[in-house]
Amino acid sequence: MQVRAPGYDHFTTDVLIIGAGAAGLRAAIELSRGGVDTLVVGKSRHGDAHTIWAAGGVNASLGTRDPEDSPDIHAADTIGEGHYVTDPQAVAKLAYEAPERIRELQDWGCRFSLTEDGEIDQRYFGAQSFRRTCFAGDRTGEAMLSTLVEKAKDISVPYRENVYITKLLTASPDSGGHVNGAAGYDLKTGRRLLFSARAVVIAAGGLTSLYERSSSRRNENNGDAMALAYDAGAALRDMEFVQFHPTGMVQPEEMAGMLVTEAVRGEGGRLYNAEGERFMEHYSPDHMELDARDVVARANYREIQAGRGVEGDAVLLDISHRDADYIKERLPKMYEQFSSLGVDITREPMKVSPTAHYAMGGIKVDFDTMQSTVRGLYTIGEATAGVHGANRLGGNSLAETVVFGKVLGEYLTGNLDSLPRSNPDEAEVARHFADLDALGASKGEHDPNELVSELRRLVWDHAGIVRTEKGLDEGLRKLAGLKEKADSLDVVGGSGDLEQALNLRSMLTASEAILRGARLREESRGAHHREDFELEDPDWQKTILCAPGVEGMQLWNEPIGEIPQKIQKALDEDYSLDYHHLE
Ligand code: FUM
Repeated sequence: MQVRAPGYDHFTTDVLIIGAGAAGLRAAIELSRGGVDTLVVGKSRHGDAHTIWAAGGVNASLGTRDPEDSPDIHAADTIGEGHYVTDPQAVAKLAYEAPERIRELQDWGCRFSLTEDGEIDQRYFGAQSFRRTCFAGDRTGEAMLSTLVEKAKDISVPYRENVYITKLLTASPDSGGHVNGAAGYDLKTGRRLLFSARAVVIAAGGLTSLYERSSSRRNENNGDAMALAYDAGAALRDMEFVQFHPTGMVQPEEMAGMLVTEAVRGEGGRLYNAEGERFMEHYSPDHMELDARDVVARANYREIQAGRGVEGDAVLLDISHRDADYIKERLPKMYEQFSSLGVDITREPMKVSPTAHYAMGGIKVDFDTMQSTVRGLYTIGEATAGVHGANRLGGNSLAETVVFGKVLGEYLTGNLDSLPRSNPDEAEVARHFADLDALGASKGEHDPNELVSELRRLVWDHAGIVRTEKGLDEGLRKLAGLKEKADSLDVVGGSGDLEQALNLRSMLTASEAILRGARLREESRGAHHREDFELEDPDWQKTILCAPGVEGMQLWNEPIGEIPQKIQKALDEDYSLDYHHLE
C-alpha cells in the first residue's frame, strides 16, 4: 500500500526485500506464492542487477558428466576449499538443495546449455572434484536472472526501481527494538521514501567495489548491504575474507578488473608468463590452472610482482589450442568481449591480472531462518557470510542465491505471524530525512568522488591479495584521516552527488571492518594472506565477528560448528581432481 504523505511517499508491506538480484527475486517468488504481501526494491531497472555479470556457471551435483559426484562431495569441496571456517550446516543445505533449485529454474524456462542427450551440461571449475558447474554458455547469471524476472512478473511480484535505501528503521527498545522498515529516496526524482514492513530482507550484494580494481560495476557492491545492517546493530562476520578472481581484464583502463570467466580455464585455458612458461607448474603441479581461486590469484600476482608479467602488469591466459567453434559456443561472451577490442581469443591469448571479485564475509545469519542478529532483519546472497568460509568455489554463489532465497521465503511465509506489525517512529523518520537533506545541501571541503577514489586505492593497497601488520595499521591510520574528511563533504546538490556521499559512508564502514578483521586474524587462510603469518593456524579456525559497540567497532570470535558425518567422510576420502588427467 502507498500513501503520499507531505515530504515523502509511505509504503506498507509485510516483507520488504532490498535488492533485486537472483537471491532477492527467488525469495520474493516464494513469498508471493505463499500469499505474503512482498515488495522488492532495487537501484536499477528490473532485470539489471549484478547477477547478470555472473558468468561461468552455477554448481549442483547433478552428475550429468560425472555420475560419481554427490551432494556430500560438493559439500566436502566447499568446506575444504573454504578452509574449514564455513558454517557446515549451511554448506550441507547448499549442496543438498542446489540440484532441485537448478531443475526448478530449468522448468521455469532457464536456458542452460545441454548435452547431446538433452541433459543440463556441466563443466569443470576450479578446485572441484567433478564437473559440477551447470552453465548457459558464459552468460549463466543473465540466463538465471531473466528467468527469475519473468517468473516474478508472471505472479505479479511488485518491484520498485531507482530506490536507494539509506537507513533501516527500528522499533523503540520498549517495543522490542526490531527492524520495522526502511527509509530511502528515489534516485531519479530525489523524492523521499518510507517503507513499513514486518520483516526487512537485505539481498543487496557485496562490497568488492571498495577495491580499486574489481569485477563489480562501480556504483554497486559498495558495502551498503553490510553497512545498513551494521548501523542497525547487526553483527558482521569474517569481513577480512575477500576473494580475488585470478583473471580480470587489464586493458583498456575503463574495462580493467572486468571478469574473464573461470570457464576459460574450466574449458582448458592455460596461464603463461612473459617468458612463455606455464608457471602454475611451480605453484600447483597437480591442480594447475584449476586450483582454487586464492592459489591461482596469488600465483598471477607473484609472477607480475617478480617482473615476469607482460606489458600492462598482466599474465597471459590462452585457450587458442582449442577448436575455434568450440570456444565460440562455450565462451561466446568472452569471444565478443575481446573481439570488440581487436583480440581474437581463438588465435591469441588474453592479458589478465587479479581483480577483487566476491565478499565471503558479510552479515552474520542463522541459516535456518536467515535472520541476522537483529530481530526482523533477514539477509540472503552475497550480503551474508558463512557459506564460503575463507575462499569461495566458483559457481557456488549463484547456487547460494536460489537455495537460500527459497529457504528465506519458506521460513517467512510460515512464520510471519510471529513478527509484530508496527509503524516506524515518526520522529526517527523525520530526523533521518532532515539528515539526508542536510547532506544533500552540504557545501563542505571534500568532493565525495575524490574521497571514494582515495578509499579504493587505500583498500587495494592495504587490504589486498597480500597483507601485513604494518600495511594494515597504515591502512587504518589513513582510513581515520578519510573519515575526518568525510565529515566535511561538498555535495553541491543533485541526486548523483548525494548517492556518492552515501556510498562513501557505507564504504568507510565496510572498509574498517575488513581492515580490522584482517589485522586481527594473524594467520593466512584462503583468500586472507598475511605475509607476516604465512601459515594457517589451527587456533584461528574460528570466525571473527564485529558489531557497533560503545567505543566504536567491537570485534570478537566464535567457534565453528561440527561437520556432519557424511560430509566428513567425503572429506576424508579426498576426491580432489588431478588436473593432468584432463589433458
Ligand atoms: O569466473 C566466473 O565465471 C565466476 C563465477 C563465480 O564467481 O561464481
